[in-house]
Amino acid sequence: MSLPTPLINVMDAAARKAARRLVRDFGEVEQLQVSRKGPGDFVTEADRRTETILFEELSKARPGFGFLMEESGVHGGESASERWIVDPIDGTTNFLHGIPHFAISIGVEREGGLVAGIVYEPVRDELFWAEKNQGAYLNRRRLRVSERTNLADALLATGIPFGDRIGKKSFMAMLNAVMQKTSGVRRLGSAALDLAYVAAGRYEGFWETGLSPWDVAGGIVVVREAGGMVSEIDGRSDMLYGNSILAANQQLYDPLRKLLMDAVRTEGVKLTE
Ligand code: IPD
Ligand code: CA
Ligand code: CA
Repeated sequence: MSLPTPLINVMDAAARKAARRLVRDFGEVEQLQVSRKGPGDFVTEADRRTETILFEELSKARPGFGFLMEESGVHGGESASERWIVDPIDGTTNFLHGIPHFAISIGVEREGGLVAGIVYEPVRDELFWAEKNQGAYLNRRRLRVSERTNLADALLATGIPFGDRIGKKSFMAMLNAVMQKTSGVRRLGSAALDLAYVAAGRYEGFWETGLSPWDVAGGIVVVREAGGMVSEIDGRSDMLYGNSILAANQQLYDPLRKLLMDAVRTEGVKLTE
């Protein structure tokens, strides 16, 4: 067992403070979601409030850091070499519908590379955390990716593009291929938790297109430090700012990447289509 580093403690404290209010708000949503008007505006407020609490707490603890936040964008620290990348609620649609599967995600970018991250799931009180070269943890337990080596035994997670999101055609091609070759696909609705669950060995892999930096910044280091592989689906390494992400255990990373890429090539579509 290792003790959390000072950076992890800062994120942990900020996330827990924001989460106390968020869990109360979630209780309110459970009431509102059966009402005719629904909890839409209330959830938008909860999202903003959570982000504000995170901003205040993280700023107090590390005044020199900049921010990239989902709701309010870039803050300060133009000259800062370090910044927080924050998603106040990842899994908003779940939150809105009273489904208890959402998380606060915070990543730390230093000199352009990710060096630490947390994904905090307040309903089950699960804090997934990792700092570069220090290992990955779920609360105080060390995390390792799964050891399954056969695609046929693999459980995968993904996100389904909706509305004007990119990647609908490629998604259908990839899903079709994965359905034939694996033991199942889940779409639980939080990319941050999908990454954390790969790190915890709950899924063998996760892929999605069209995500934003705040969806994945918290989870990428957690997967890597748990011994997993993360890249774009085509193998390039800009999964933080690029268009796609694939995370998997060591053994299944290559077969999965091949399966997904062969599927889009066979269909003659691009990952962004
Ligand atoms: C969403 C979740 C979801 C993914 C979406 C994201 P949000 O983030 O991560 O799993 O499929 O593409 O936008 O909107 O709940 O913060
Ligand atoms: Ca998100
Ligand atoms: Ca969000």
